[in-house]
Amino acid sequence: MTINPIVDTRRVIDELNHLAGFSECPNPPPAVTRVVFTEHDLRARDYLSSLYSAAGLTVRVDAVGNTFARWVGDDPQASVVGTGSHTDAIPFSGMYDGTVGVIGGLEAIRSLQATGFRPKRSIELVMFTSEEPTRFGVGCTGSRVMAGVLDESRLDKLVDSSGQTYNQVRRNAGFLAPIETALLPTDYFHAWIELHIEQGPTLEASELPIGIVTAIAAPATMVVEITGQGGHAGAVLMPIRKDALCAAAEMITEIERLATQCPSDDLVATVGELQVHPGAVNSIPSYVRFTIDLRDINGNTRDEVKSEIEPAISRIATRRNVEVSIQTLNSDPPASASAMIIDAAKSACHDSGLAYQTMISRAYHDSLFMAQVAPMSMIFIPCRGGVSHRPDEYSSPDEITRGIEVLARTLASLSAS
Ligand code: HGY
Ligand code: MN
Ligand code: MN
Repeated sequence: MTINPIVDTRRVIDELNHLAGFSECPNPPPAVTRVVFTEHDLRARDYLSSLYSAAGLTVRVDAVGNTFARWVGDDPQASVVGTGSHTDAIPFSGMYDGTVGVIGGLEAIRSLQATGFRPKRSIELVMFTSEEPTRFGVGCTGSRVMAGVLDESRLDKLVDSSGQTYNQVRRNAGFLAPIETALLPTDYFHAWIELHIEQGPTLEASELPIGIVTAIAAPATMVVEITGQGGHAGAVLMPIRKDALCAAAEMITEIERLATQCPSDDLVATVGELQVHPGAVNSIPSYVRFTIDLRDINGNTRDEVKSEIEPAISRIATRRNVEVSIQTLNSDPPASASAMIIDAAKSACHDSGLAYQTMISRAYHDSLFMAQVAPMSMIFIPCRGGVSHRPDEYSSPDEITRGIEVLARTLASLSAS
């Protein structure tokens, strides 16, 4: 079956630029901040729903705001072929992370519609409600709920910086259904493939237009809280201090040392958040909270380093006479892609006359959890300098167009039988 989907690049770029305007970021696009269930996020959803409807797709929204836009196939009862990504964006980030997979998935469908192709299996575009951990500390909440990894009671315990729970915020945003209604039946998806910018330097360095993902790294997130003793910066002498921030500083460099000395090149550890109380220039920090993002493509290696980090933190706390608690928010297994999906993407590259390489994803994605409910892979396109989660994140119109064309061909072959 040779079809030739033609991507309307101008339309795609216009839609990406329009989407980037829904942002609470003080800086103009391409800097974007779009946190889940905020006013800008909800307005972006309305805009996207108008695009799905204009394409004649059947739209439904689940209990946490995952949005499903379906191109109904000739066999409407058959399990569906899914594609999609997210549109939430961490503070001061870029306009392509996630959005390329949502707008690109929509354009892949539209380009197939324009060829006269008719899918046997429905093709469904999914916009996951929130891939980023910004507001509630845990990423991929939408796909976790779909895969049964996150339930109603856990969503009562995830709180944002204002103390509101996930369930309170989602209900205030109008997503009222019980969480169990969002759990996907095991045979819901026949196949799953997500288009995404690489968020790394590999494709650009190898001058290849397409990456096909064979595995996604396993993320773990921990929260460390340290309680010391505050006091006057002038009056309390050094030998009797219980400085929570100095304890944190020693812990953080120890985390870096343990990650760096790990034999696995794929092991990465990041302390990205740090809160200090009271945060006054002349007051000894009495309380500090920081987060640890720990990953490796091998879940066992990650867990080994995690089991070194936790006692190291406790030893430092004891020596410094401060209290410490470590909470693990998530510790997820890595995901392997499916040979069926990888082969479909490879054939699509061949039909498009595009070179590709297979590769792992060091960033996690909702596809990490979709792998638990469907045969999965991802299509990567290069991003300039490998940069992501920054306003200067960029993929060119040609790179985006090539990714969409490969996605369209992949969706056509997966949905044809
Ligand atoms: O952190 C990640 O890997 C994803 O970009 N949220
Ligand atoms: Mn991201
Ligand atoms: Mn992303």
